[in-house]
Amino acid sequence: MKISRHLILIFFLAAFLFCFSASVCFAGNTGKLYILGMGPSGPDLTAPRAIAVLEKADTILCSSRIQKRFWKHVDPNKVAFNPWEGIHGEEAGKLRKTDYKQWIARVEKQKKKVQDFVLQQIKAGKTVVMLDGGDPCVYGPSLYWLLKGFDDRYFEIIPGMSAFNAASAALKRPMTGENTQFVMLTAPFSLFGDSYKKADEVLQDLSKYKTTMVFYMALSSIDKLVEKFKKYYPLELPMSVVYYAGYPEKERVLRSTLGTILDDLKKVDEKWLGLLIIGECAK
Ligand SMILES: C[S@@+](CC[C@H](N)C(=O)[O-])C[C@H]1O[C@@H](n2cnc3c(N)ncnc32)[C@H](O)[C@@H]1O
Repeated sequence: MKISRHLILIFFLAAFLFCFSASVCFAGNTGKLYILGMGPSGPDLTAPRAIAVLEKADTILCSSRIQKRFWKHVDPNKVAFNPWEGIHGEEAGKLRKTDYKQWIARVEKQKKKVQDFVLQQIKAGKTVVMLDGGDPCVYGPSLYWLLKGFDDRYFEIIPGMSAFNAASAALKRPMTGENTQFVMLTAPFSLFGDSYKKADEVLQDLSKYKTTMVFYMALSSIDKLVEKFKKYYPLELPMSVVYYAGYPEKERVLRSTLGTILDDLKKVDEKWLGLLIIGECAK
């Protein structure tokens, strides 16, 4: 009788110790990475959920440009480092063009640095945020370059308004108008390849349909894009560029056509922050 009472006591003690240590381990491992979609411009076009997560975060990874735009919500003491160091910017852009291999080696090094750092933070129970412009799932560089292969279990994405949405609003047209059969979000390198050698057949096929085509990152190679389109589309094809979509002071809409766009774009210097929209809605 005495032995069995002891046994019961030992059993309960062991069960308590097990539950306690399990809860300590679990509580010590509740860190997470959030990839925040910050929208096309400033905080007034960012989802409140993303702002709330940003303000509560322990550690922030972001570029100095986005930090400036969100200065009200980014505590500089929490910014660990710029994950794009050596990958983005003028010098890195030149390297990417002249020595792609070396640039990719930098990306790989930075990817390892970022992933190791984030994992270490998560294991220490910290909340880490990475700030992406627009929506992280539409040509968002974090998922594409730095977090490739990172385990899904460790991160959550807070969606953001993409440049596409802000540019549609600036155009004041439905992207899915009456005759539109589908909307295509793309970029020159996705459709045509880096050297513009691909996709003649695709473009030829596309020309049979009423489509809204949205091109991210198209301005720096617009001459090559126009050359391709001229093979399969009439010169009257409507083409618009929305610069700085969502920026109250800087937003600008340039409505043009396939035949005139190259001349029209000469009037504007900006080669990055503009979205090219092609189709009826661009009229
Ligand atoms: C790397 S992609 C990032 C896209 C972003 N994730 C999004 O959802 O908008 C960068 C390209 O997005 C477009 N872009 C981003 N923000 C923009 C804005 N405010 N106005 C116009 N185009 C913008 C430009 O074509 C730019 O070259």
